[in-house]
Amino acid sequence: MKKLSSSAIAHPNIALIKYWGNKNQALRIPVNGSISFNLDSLFTKTEVTFISELTSDILFINGHETTGLGLDRVVSFLNIVREQAGTQSFAKVNSENNFPVGTGIASSASAFAALSLAASNAIGLDLSEKELSCLARRGSGSASRSIPEGFVEWFPGVMDTDSYAVSIAPARHWGLVDLVAVVTHEHKKVGSTAGHELANTSPLQKARVDDTKRRLDIVREAIKYHDFQAMAEMVELDSNMMHAVMMTSRPVLMYWENTSISIMKNVQKWRASGIPVCYTMDAGPNVHVITTKDYSEDIYQKLACMNGIKQIFIAAVGGKARLVND
Ligand code: PMV
Repeated sequence: MKKLSSSAIAHPNIALIKYWGNKNQALRIPVNGSISFNLDSLFTKTEVTFISELTSDILFINGHETTGLGLDRVVSFLNIVREQAGTQSFAKVNSENNFPVGTGIASSASAFAALSLAASNAIGLDLSEKELSCLARRGSGSASRSIPEGFVEWFPGVMDTDSYAVSIAPARHWGLVDLVAVVTHEHKKVGSTAGHELANTSPLQKARVDDTKRRLDIVREAIKYHDFQAMAEMVELDSNMMHAVMMTSRPVLMYWENTSISIMKNVQKWRASGIPVCYTMDAGPNVHVITTKDYSEDIYQKLACMNGIKQIFIAAVGGKARLVND
């Protein structure tokens, strides 16, 4: 029996400037660029083994065999890898996360970044970081940003080969910390793949996209010069703009829960009192509270005192997707 196996680890990322809406839905070419950083303590570890005897792909997530839509998405993705490699062989995919999936922590980002690296390596493709980022994007747009290290910008591009992410600063460049306040562990009802398709039904999407270059420029500069205040204002504006688009889409996407709103209001109060802290939310009710290492314990304690928060994850800026040896 011929077996080709590789394992890889990738971190999820939190977008400071968000991706919402595609120019090309099938290729996941986004309407706007985005900036994120990887989350070091959270990860997906994925082992891919191509086995000549298999008659279809099989998928295990956190030890449980997964079928249905989850498997379909991985099979479609592996078809792209097989096409690039010019082989037919099916694979066993074993994926583990150390954080809950489907609640607004971008599990699809780390999942498809780890899968891209493990699958392409196992099948014998020797892809550059740019090519890996393009490949990961096909599984989940934000996965393109979990390939490079540290602070990352995804250039939207216009076609498959020029829509990819690069590192704009290494993880050690700035000691930011993301405290992820988990508001619910329930699986979200509308995922981001379906959400992107609704973006254009909002009359606010055009204004959001037209203003993106300005927000990207300010956040890129703020990262470069460690300017927390400038970053904070743009990060909150960007999150609010994306959620305004969501809330004004047809059908309406409303991810905010009461606790999410209480956290956002408190974060603004804390910042007004002089603490470097800001919030951002993805396609779920959890709130990412971003601060610096010096203030992370203080913010953790403040969040821990609030009602309605189920769990808090703490992550500093993380490294790139990488192969592991077992
Ligand atoms: O990569 P997707 O399709 O899961 O989309 C991610 C969308 C947001 O998390 C809401 C924003 C972002 O840029 O990460």
